[in-house]
Amino acid sequence: MKNLTVTTKDIPVEDWQQTSNIPPAAPLIVDITARESTAIHYIGQKLIREYGSYENPAFLATLHLNAYQLLPERITRILSAFGTDFSASQYGAIVFRGLMQVDQEELGKTPASWKEMDPEKLYAFGFISSLIHGAVPSKPVQYYAQRKGGGLLHPIIPDENMSYTQTGSGSRTDLFVHTEDAFLYNQADFLSFLFVRNEEQVPSTLYSIRSHGATDAIMAPLFRDLYKCPKDANYSQDAAVGEEVSTAVLYGNSTYPFIRFDAAEQIYNSDANQSAEALHHLEEFWKVAKTHIYNDFVPQAGDLIFVNNHLCAHGRNAFMAGFRNENGNMVPCERRMMLRMMSKTSLIHIRSVTRTNDPFFIMEEHYGKVFQD
Ligand SMILES: [Fe+2]
Repeated sequence: MKNLTVTTKDIPVEDWQQTSNIPPAAPLIVDITARESTAIHYIGQKLIREYGSYENPAFLATLHLNAYQLLPERITRILSAFGTDFSASQYGAIVFRGLMQVDQEELGKTPASWKEMDPEKLYAFGFISSLIHGAVPSKPVQYYAQRKGGGLLHPIIPDENMSYTQTGSGSRTDLFVHTEDAFLYNQADFLSFLFVRNEEQVPSTLYSIRSHGATDAIMAPLFRDLYKCPKDANYSQDAAVGEEVSTAVLYGNSTYPFIRFDAAEQIYNSDANQSAEALHHLEEFWKVAKTHIYNDFVPQAGDLIFVNNHLCAHGRNAFMAGFRNENGNMVPCERRMMLRMMSKTSLIHIRSVTRTNDPFFIMEEHYGKVFQD
């Protein structure tokens, strides 16, 4: 599969958008110039001095202003076009290669789990991730369903105790592709994955509904409200809240749809309780979808993958956390660290499921049911 690489010169938006009729098979890869990455480094430092933390309400209140004033114009143009492009040729993910300079020594050793991460070390990454979402424009949010909130930026670190589970903390099983929080009506619109360490050289897995082209006979049944999606493996199997709800996998435009899909939970989880008909349609679709999985990109420290969560699913290959392959020998290394941010384009439309005094905090538990605070 071919990578679409944008060169270092300033390119008008029309030229980097793919214009062919061939369904896109890979994300756009944008190489950040040395000048842009230096600018981004100084923007991070400046925002730390001005606001302290990216969670400062004064920063969030001026997020879009800061994004458009501070980020290099080429990056802002790419993101603002991406936010409204749902076309046949839009893959739904962009890799910004070399976006941030990561000082590995300053970052220190990878902590045992995300709970031990020193938040101060993440401030610059949090500010820049926020600006990237802000340029779409979209607003960073947190979900009670994920780490009971846990802030706007989540360090994703392989945790030895969860290595066989289908969550971001797992590492030894293949993580099937999924759109984030497919069990929520108010799932994230956009996601960013900022890699600060990937010594294991684990490829990132992406899969886009656009790779199928226009809606065909296999996709058509997925527009029906037939499909269940259990809450994901981050949960204990407690109350069956929202279990009775069935939704469509494909929605939005009938020719070039959006997607809400979780292969592990909807097809392979026996507790999903799909009807025989639903399971049949899902399995037929998955046979084709699997052939479109993109697995060629190995993120390096400083790379950020930006995803439209309605077009593109993500996952990850199985890997042995804390070991890298050196000429066929597995030698110890620092464990992988990735920083995830999620955002919504409208806080108005999610207001019925956000906290009374924090409209950036989503309390939806399972398909419209809300956690009791
Ligand atoms: Fe995920």
